[in-house]
Amino acid sequence: MLVAKPLVFLACLVPFMQLAHGAFVGDLGANPLELVTNVTGLWGLRFLLLTLAISPLRRVSGWNWLQRFRRMLGLFVFFYISLHFLTWVWLDQQLDWSKIAADIVKRPYVTLGFTAWLLLVPLAATSTRGMMRRLGRRWQRLHRLVYVAGVLGVLHFIWLVKADLLQPLIYASLLLILLAVRWRPHLLGRLAWSGRTINAR
Ligand code: HEM
Repeated sequence: MLVAKPLVFLACLVPFMQLAHGAFVGDLGANPLELVTNVTGLWGLRFLLLTLAISPLRRVSGWNWLQRFRRMLGLFVFFYISLHFLTWVWLDQQLDWSKIAADIVKRPYVTLGFTAWLLLVPLAATSTRGMMRRLGRRWQRLHRLVYVAGVLGVLHFIWLVKADLLQPLIYASLLLILLAVRWRPHLLGRLAWSGRTINAR
């Protein structure tokens, strides 16, 4: 389907459009800085988990077309997390570089988030087909860093939440499942098998 990619692209832009519209009409709630930080952080994490879910979902369902969306979703992770980072650097820290450096060193949740963002930079930079071809097997090894970025991102979320840990723990559990099926593919084999027997009934 020729329109599928543009449609998924537009769907991925919806959270950004909502923020841009809110900023344009001056309706970003009582604390716009907090809203933009939280929305971009949450969508960055959601897209990261979605990107990691593509391969296992494809293997369980046999829907190979899912693969076509993986790169786009991965780039949306970088887009939202970079917006999240920019919001902090620019609107929260007012581009005060010494304060930014001190915060990165002193506050563990910022250290974790910043390291996760740093790991995403080479992944976005090598996401083109040309780089994939040039790096060969090294490309796959490099792109495993997305799992490390995911773990750091989730730890960042757990660390910064002061009261209700339910939400970050839900994201942590989803990431754990994705890590488990990545390193223990036979778990996925069992899932696919039970899926097929249910379908056959
Ligand atoms: C993969 C990287 C990252 C992920 C997945 C991520 C995710 C998140 C999430 C889910 C939230 C909370 C949203 C909510 O409470 O609804 C958040 C908040 C926040 N993040 Fe990140 N983040 C990442 C990187 C960064 C970076 C690079 C920075 C800045 C250096 C940063 C600074 C913050 C700040 C300041 C908050 C708000 C803290 C508060 O409410 O007190 N994050 N992030």
